[in-house]
Amino acid sequence: MELLSPRPGIGQIKPYRPARPPEDGAAWVDLSLTVNPLGPGKKALTAYRHMAAQIHRYPDWSQDRLRHAIARRYDLDAGHITCANGSDEMIHLVTQAFAGPGDEVLCHEHGYRGFMKAIRAAGATPVIAAERDLVVDVEAMIDRANEKTKLCFLANPNNPTGTYIPSELVLRLRASLPSHTLLVLDSAYADYCRRDNYSDGTAIVENSDNVLMVRTFSKLHGLAGLRVGWAYGPAGVIEAVNQTRGPFNVGIAAQAAAEAAVGDTEHEEATFAHNSAWLPWLSHELEQLGVRVYPSVCNFILARIPTDPSLGVQAVLDHLARRGILVKPTQDYGLADCLRITVGREDENRALVAALGEILS
Ligand SMILES: Cc1ncc(COP(=O)(O)O)c(C=O)c1O
Repeated sequence: MELLSPRPGIGQIKPYRPARPPEDGAAWVDLSLTVNPLGPGKKALTAYRHMAAQIHRYPDWSQDRLRHAIARRYDLDAGHITCANGSDEMIHLVTQAFAGPGDEVLCHEHGYRGFMKAIRAAGATPVIAAERDLVVDVEAMIDRANEKTKLCFLANPNNPTGTYIPSELVLRLRASLPSHTLLVLDSAYADYCRRDNYSDGTAIVENSDNVLMVRTFSKLHGLAGLRVGWAYGPAGVIEAVNQTRGPFNVGIAAQAAAEAAVGDTEHEEATFAHNSAWLPWLSHELEQLGVRVYPSVCNFILARIPTDPSLGVQAVLDHLARRGILVKPTQDYGLADCLRITVGREDENRALVAALGEILS
């Protein structure tokens, strides 16, 4: 009897490794996932609760109100927007729509892991371009592109490095990739990166016919648990994603909460201000403990733990766990001596620094 087996590539997908044991009831200070420490905004919560009596209904397949709310907020054409069950689903959808067996998909060395999963799931072949000092190297990406390259993923800013490249380099990348390659700009952390030389990708989408920008409600808007992501791109690309997605991929309460959240600039500003205050504080305190902190424009930092044969990353993780604190080990990203630490609430940040101080000083 022939054994049932999934498509080649599926077995190469690395399983997701959460920092926390699944059925552990302990009250952790969880700085392992890059969520909003302030939680969701009041407007999103109200809209979500309001929708509770409607959850027997299917959601609006056309995502009309949500797409128009996003379009109003960011001054975009709603006809060029589509939404998904988190930006992770969007990454899968666009990969399925544009790449398959025999095709190559370009990524960068320490790029967001979700890209690899989507590429493998689609049966395509990932091609990884080296980075320079944990920053995307556009020239290395251009060198690896060829006639088989159907997609190129760029997380800008990137998780877990926290670094970004300026818009002029994104333009150079687009101009130098083959025209048959769709450049996918994953701008999950764009809301945190208010730098003059940075762009989320809106302008480049509008001036090209082969660039897609992907955004999320999971970070600044604090809706990670509801799973809402969206994409802005050329009509043909949006249509291909719509043909690939399930008609009801974003739930009714998720659409309502996201619609409210995208108009809640007060919550956005409070979140941004919190991050602007605590990101430098956390970076400074860790540096005082001898930890190398990479310059981050996101809501987390990548920290390289001082190398000492008697003190590995696992010992630091174990110590933090004893203090009830979770952070993200980054060995799956090829960064075995680093930890990704999300900016938390004030009490959480102080607890982390105190616990690290106990083991590092
Ligand atoms: C760079 C990047 N892209 C996409 C995602 C996926 O976010 P979500 O699926 O919650 O929208 C994440 C989540 O951590 C991320 O860091």
